[in-house]
Formats: sequence, C-alpha cells, structure tokens
Amino acid sequence: MRPISLCHRVSSLAALLLCLGVPVQCVFLEPDQSLRVPEGWTFMGCLAASDNVTLTFALKQQRVDILQDLVERVSNPDCPLYGMYLTLEELTALIKPCSLTISTVQKWLQTFGIGDCQTVQTLDFLWCTMTVGTAEKLLPGSEFSRYVNGQKSVVRSLVPYKVYEELADHIDFVGGLHRFPMERKVLSRGWGNPHQGSFHLGVMPSIIRQRYNLSVSDVGSSSNNSQACAQFLEQYFHQQDLAEFMQIFGGGFSHCSRVDRVVGPHGGPKAGLEASLDVEYIMSTGANISTWVFSNPGRYESQEPFMDWLLSLSNLSSVPWVHTVSYGDDEDSLSVAYMERINVEFMKAAARGLTILFASGDDGAGCRTVGKGIHAFRPSFPASSPYVTTVGGTSFKNPFQVTCEVTDYISGGGFSNVFPMPDYQVAAVKHYLMTASKLPPESYYNSSGRAYPDIAALSDNYWVVTNRIPIPWVSGTSASTPVFGGILSLINDKRLQKGLPPLGFLNPALYKLHSSGNSSALFDVTTGCHLSCLDEKVQGQGFCAAPLWDPVTGWGTPNFPQLLRAFLPERVSV
Ligand SMILES: *[C@@H]1O[C@H](CO)[C@@H](O)[C@H](O)[C@H]1NC(C)=O
Ligand SMILES: *[C@@H]1O[C@H](CO)[C@@H](O)[C@H](O)[C@H]1NC(C)=O
Ligand SMILES: *[C@@H]1O[C@H](CO)[C@@H](O)[C@H](O)[C@H]1NC(C)=O
Ligand SMILES: *[C@@H]1O[C@H](CO)[C@@H](O)[C@H](O)[C@H]1NC(C)=O
Ligand SMILES: *[C@@H]1O[C@H](CO)[C@@H](O)[C@H](O)[C@H]1NC(C)=O
Ligand SMILES: *[C@@H]1O[C@H](CO)[C@@H](O)[C@H](O)[C@H]1NC(C)=O
Repeated sequence: MRPISLCHRVSSLAALLLCLGVPVQCVFLEPDQSLRVPEGWTFMGCLAASDNVTLTFALKQQRVDILQDLVERVSNPDCPLYGMYLTLEELTALIKPCSLTISTVQKWLQTFGIGDCQTVQTLDFLWCTMTVGTAEKLLPGSEFSRYVNGQKSVVRSLVPYKVYEELADHIDFVGGLHRFPMERKVLSRGWGNPHQGSFHLGVMPSIIRQRYNLSVSDVGSSSNNSQACAQFLEQYFHQQDLAEFMQIFGGGFSHCSRVDRVVGPHGGPKAGLEASLDVEYIMSTGANISTWVFSNPGRYESQEPFMDWLLSLSNLSSVPWVHTVSYGDDEDSLSVAYMERINVEFMKAAARGLTILFASGDDGAGCRTVGKGIHAFRPSFPASSPYVTTVGGTSFKNPFQVTCEVTDYISGGGFSNVFPMPDYQVAAVKHYLMTASKLPPESYYNSSGRAYPDIAALSDNYWVVTNRIPIPWVSGTSASTPVFGGILSLINDKRLQKGLPPLGFLNPALYKLHSSGNSSALFDVTTGCHLSCLDEKVQGQGFCAAPLWDPVTGWGTPNFPQLLRAFLPERVSV
C-alpha cells in the first residue's frame, strides 16, 4: 500500500526548479497502458493547440490499507462491524489526499495557467478543462488527435505521457488521454435463426419472476430503498419505452413505470437497446423500487464515460444501494496503475454499503495471442476486480419452457492476471480446480488470480421495448446483471424494513452461503461450457460449469425465497 510518510515530505522541488528554468526529470505514470486504436475508431487528424480537452487527475489517496481492512470488516457477516458503513463524509475524512498532495498538484496546474478545475467531495479527483497546447506541455510526450466511431468522437493521445518525477508520488493516473470508450453490444442471436425463434415466447418479466420464485407480493415497499443502472455513451433509455414495456409485460406484479432520477446529461432522439434493457429488467425484479439512471452519453467528447460515473459516486452523498453496470475492457489493454486505482474506487463504494454488480462479458473465457501461434484466455476488467460482484449468464435447458438452467456459452468468466485471489473465494475456487473433470491447459489462465463470475442469471432470449417497438431474442450478460441487481434490491428492501443495514459488498457473505447451510439459496448450474480460443489445443472451449462454484456461472442463479431467508436473519440481535 501507499506509504503515508510521503505526506510529511516537505518539498516542492520540481515546481521550484521549473520556475528557475532548470530541466527536471520526467517519468511515465502508465508505461504499460495499451496505445492501440481499438477496432471501429478512425484517426481524423491532429488537433489545433487552441482546441479544448478535459482531463481527470486521480490524486493519491491516504490510508488505502485501512480502507481495505475496513471493507473486509463491514462486508463480513461474521464480523462485529458487519453493516457499519461509512457516510461519504466519513469516507472523505479517511482517504482524502494529504494537503501536500493537493497543494503540489494545484501548484503544478497553476504553473501552466490551468484554472478551470472541479473537484469531488472525496477530494481525490480533479476534473480540468484546458487547451490542447497546454495539455501537451503539462504532460510531456502527449499528442492529442481526434478519433471517430460512427456518431462518436473522442480526443485521445496515442503517445504516452510523462509527469515530473515529484508528481508521480501524488497522482495515480491521468484520465481522458489513452483509454477509448468501450462499446456495449447486446446480441440478437435469434435473428436469422428460425429454429430457435419460431416457437419460443422469450424471456419476459413473468418468466423471470416465475423461474426465480418471486411471488406477487415480492415487490419493494421501503421508501428508503433505491437502485440504479449506469449507462455509457450515446445510450439513452426513453421513459415512454419503459411505460410501454410495463403495459405489455408488467401484468401480475406492482411496479414503477418511470425512472425517478437521471444523473448526468440525458436525452436523445433514439433510445438504445442496451439502455432500454437495463431499466426494463432491473425494474421488473426490483419491482416498485425507486430507480435511478447514471447517464453519460458522449456529450463531452473528450471524457471517459466510465470515469464520469465513478466521479459522480464520489460527489453525491446519497446514492442508490445497488448499481448494475454492463461495461468492460480487456485487462491486458489497461495499465496496472489505472486498474488498481479503480479498484480503490470500488472499495470506497463497499465501505459505504453499496452493492456494485458488473456483467461478466459476452466472450466466454476470451482469447488473446501471446506469442506466435500461442494463445491464452483474456480476462476482462472491472469484471475481474475483487471488490465487485460479477454476473454471468445462463439459458433454459429446454428453451421452450421454464426449466432448470444451463451455461450460456457466451458467459464471461476466468481468472485475473492482475488481482490475486481474494480470501473469501479461495476454498470455493480450489474446490473447483481440484474436482473439475476437464480443465483447459494451465498456460491459458492464471489459477492464482481473482476468479469470476460470482453469480449468474438468464442471459438469453429477452424481450425489450425500444423506440416503442417490442424486440425479441435480446441476449447477453447485460441482461442477467440488472435481473440479479433487482433481486438484491428486493432483499435490501426487506432488510431496511427490519431496520437492518443493506447488503453492501456481497461477495464475502455470498461465498459463505454454501458452508452455512444455505445451499438452496442459488440454483447451481452444472452443465455446459463457455467459449474461448479457436485453436487446436482448446478448440473453442473455455471452462465448464460444475457442482458448486465454477468460473462460468459462479454459484448459480437466484432462488429468491431461499436467498432472502439466508440474508434476512429471523431474529435480529441488537
Ligand atoms: C475552450 O474553452 C474556453 C473556455 O472554457 C472557451 O472560451 C473556448 O471557446 C473553447 N475553445 C474551443 C476551441 O472550443
Ligand atoms: C461535485 O459537486 C459540486 C457541487 O455539488 C460541483 O460544484 C462540482 O462541479 C462537482 N464535481 C464534478 C467533477 O462534477
Ligand atoms: C422455487 O423454484 C423451484 C424450481 O422452480 C422449486 O423446485 C422450489 O420448490 C421453489 N420454491 C422454493 C421455496 O424454493
Ligand atoms: C410500493 O412502494 C411504496 C413506497 O415506495 C409503498 O408505499 C407501497 O405500499 C408499495 N406497493 C406495494 C404493492 O407494496
Ligand atoms: C428512512 O429515511 C428517513 C429520512 O429520509 C430516515 O429518517 C429514516 O431513519 C430512514 N429509515 C431507515 C429504516 O433507514
Ligand atoms: C498471475 O497472477 C498473479 C496475481 O494473481 C500475477 O502476479 C502474475 O503476474 C500473473 N501471471 C501472469 C502470467 O500474468
């Protein structure tokens, strides 16, 4: 962890030397960040020095080791501090950057005449607008250009940046330079597949509620409860689509038909399929629960939409308890400095009692080339963060009926190459590795890493209303994630009604369910494998589902009454 003693170092040597015109040493902050232009983006030329860019500076926080320890205690049901979450103000007092960090960064920015900056309540991010000319001087090496992808346009530097050596002690990374916004694609696998399409009625709220044993009365009723979806990049939902969806599919249970609050710029002529899917399904399982959308359509073109969401969480003292996010990037394309800092952002959320769910991805184990003709699986981040709950996908065994579930072959899963395996999952993952009947060759994955997903839900054949049209056969872990999110919100609802704290970061409690006699809380998915590299060694097959936890469907899918029983103690000891 970061040495706290840094804060007592009394020096601003670089700034002084700079003022005296003495050359100072510069270092790379993210030497391992990929500088590839992702598929779909086209170079559109360099920018004028007078054009504007907006950059995010992630300031080094204090006491991250204490935060980590605190998260373990407040999320562990066996610990006396379980559920004793921090307010945003208390969190700020714990982790805010030390004054030397704040003043050093401020002086540095002032030296370059950068005054247009905003901070967040936790004081650990600065969000500044400046001209390209200034940015290229501030961050030696950087060269900003414009890239477009369809309607989307971003400003990025494909050349690595440096900062003065002294600043490297005060900044984790600079956002808005390198990372391109990731595409979210829900698949419409049914299209063009008449065999699958012709008989199946498809997954709709009544089917989900039936499969996961939600009764008519299993809807929210606590006025303090809320849930949220985070949506990125030109993805809008329309309130009218949601209302129409609930009119067609919302029979038989009480529900809301409007999103209560949208954080961030919102509104566009055309709704997106993914954005519609999120709200329609989180509000069908988490029915009658107040719902927010964090919306970051690419209006400010140079920003990272994912960072915007994290900044909002750090800047709002009252946010929903459950957040579902369908967003991910290849671990190997991101710098370790960036991933470690984002991980601290998830610890901050956990300390506040927020439950953050990420979709595990739609590429199975993934695949990348690591040498000539040599492949390895490709883990995805933030799915691989040990501080979020990652959701995989399943299909009905008999696609025409509400039956037990099998692996959806697209379900993302595997082992991180960056984050070591957290204690809460060691026993479960070891059991899988020791008992699995067929494992991929060891060179394809890192069995000491954080393994995911943690849980799963149906991810196949959904109905979604978008732009007033019901669309069938929508598939992907973007569908399973809001479904599970809504179910956790229902559990929070019952907990809040009993005066209990919300679930918070779920994994430590989740991985204890089986050994504490709650093995019926989740339907164990035990058949099917997900996809991976199309080479001779693995022939397109990644990991396979197995009894108990597995890296394809985690612990399985929710059986609501049993899951509620496990997370809602009969007798509450005060
Ligand atoms: C850059 O931002 C400044 C102030 O924020 C504004 O006055 C100026 O017009 C912007 N420049 C361009 C090229 O958009
Ligand atoms: C954080 O919130 C404050 C006011 O509540 C606002 O002035 C500031 O701009 C926000 N910061 C960011 C980065 O949006
Ligand atoms: C939940 O659903 C399963 C299968 O659909 C069923 O076997 C079970 O009895 C149901 N009820 C409970 C309380 O588990
Ligand atoms: C829906 O939630 C509200 C509180 O937000 C509550 O007053 C109402 O009783 C709930 N409806 C049902 C059917 O439980
Ligand atoms: C619900 O919120 C109100 C104010 O918004 C607060 O006074 C009350 O204590 C909260 N109830 C619970 C159970 O947290
Ligand atoms: C495997 O994961 C560990 C952390 O869990 C990491 O230190 C190591 O570098 C990884 N190995 C590879 C080949 O990526």
